[in-house]
Amino acid sequence: MTLSFSDMTEYAINKEITVSASAPSNIAIVKYWGKKGTQEPVNPSISFTLSKARTNTNISYLYNKESLSLHFLFEGKSKSSFLPKLEQLTEKLKHYLPFLNSGQLKIESTNSFPHSSGIASSASSMASIAKSLFEIQKQIKPDTNTENESFLISEMARLGSGSACRSTNQGWVMWGKTQLKKESNDRYGISINEDVHPLFNDIQDSILVIRNGAKAVSSTVGHQLMNNHPYREGRIKQANDNIKKLLTAFKDGDFINFAQVCEEEALSLHALMMSSSPAYTLMAPESLRAIKRIKKFREHQHVPITFTLDAGPNIHLIYPKKYSKIIVPFIKEHLEPLCENKEIIFDHISVK
Ligand code: DP6
Repeated sequence: MTLSFSDMTEYAINKEITVSASAPSNIAIVKYWGKKGTQEPVNPSISFTLSKARTNTNISYLYNKESLSLHFLFEGKSKSSFLPKLEQLTEKLKHYLPFLNSGQLKIESTNSFPHSSGIASSASSMASIAKSLFEIQKQIKPDTNTENESFLISEMARLGSGSACRSTNQGWVMWGKTQLKKESNDRYGISINEDVHPLFNDIQDSILVIRNGAKAVSSTVGHQLMNNHPYREGRIKQANDNIKKLLTAFKDGDFINFAQVCEEEALSLHALMMSSSPAYTLMAPESLRAIKRIKKFREHQHVPITFTLDAGPNIHLIYPKKYSKIIVPFIKEHLEPLCENKEIIFDHISVK
């Protein structure tokens, strides 16, 4: 999927190009945990994109003959700590977007969600950057082939952050090769909305912000721990088995099996970190307390509610919208007190 680009057109020279794009964050049900090759996953994963948690990016590009200079502003302030990641990304994307060989690139991003929330921002930010950069390419070269645009943008986002390739589509997205889905592949995310029962079309994600600090271990380091992990092969098999179970639950509108996969994946992710070398415990005591309360509530009230976690202590509560009336009061009364600063973010799936 390389774009040919032989020379800068008259249009690009002396004219600043400005573009903007927005992308949602996503939360995985079957987790991507472990990499191979160029940021490809060792197992397939499935996630859904959020609605309110988004990154908005504005990029301006001015052509000159000098090698590429990069400026990055986050929420209006220069953020040099993100520059090495961006430099790596633009280096990898030169192959797709030759304008990145030279000129001045100014990237400005803002998140719609608080920094403290523990929502992964690398997925939404890399996805919005990939979208914006492709827009610049189209303005420089209006005859750019856009036939596979959405796959190409997802592929470029992946090179910034693996899970970002699941943030360039809306709703339920699968990334990683599995025999169960013909179009699936390791390079980019594909929409699987058509395989999903309506029960999962308005799924809610209420995020319990148990701790609002930075993560103790970055995902990138976490993925590396899988390289020599004693349970590596078992994990790859488990993820593939869970993809199969999840696709069946999606087809049947079966919340019980959906919840089983969801919780097994979340707890396995933490178990893998606890059995890595070095080992990490990323849950907080309140995370475990919340899990117990959620299970007890489900047992007593017979409502479809489940949970997942990312590589951190915060809990994502997942349930169909029509149960909000009974679930939200439970969250307020029994789970809110477990959250640092009583912070909960009520979000939901984004659909087209
Ligand atoms: C636990 O995509 O953040 O959230 O590819 O190194 O940027 P990099 O990692 P990242 O990993 C996400 C891991 C996860 C599970 C998931 O989203 O599938």
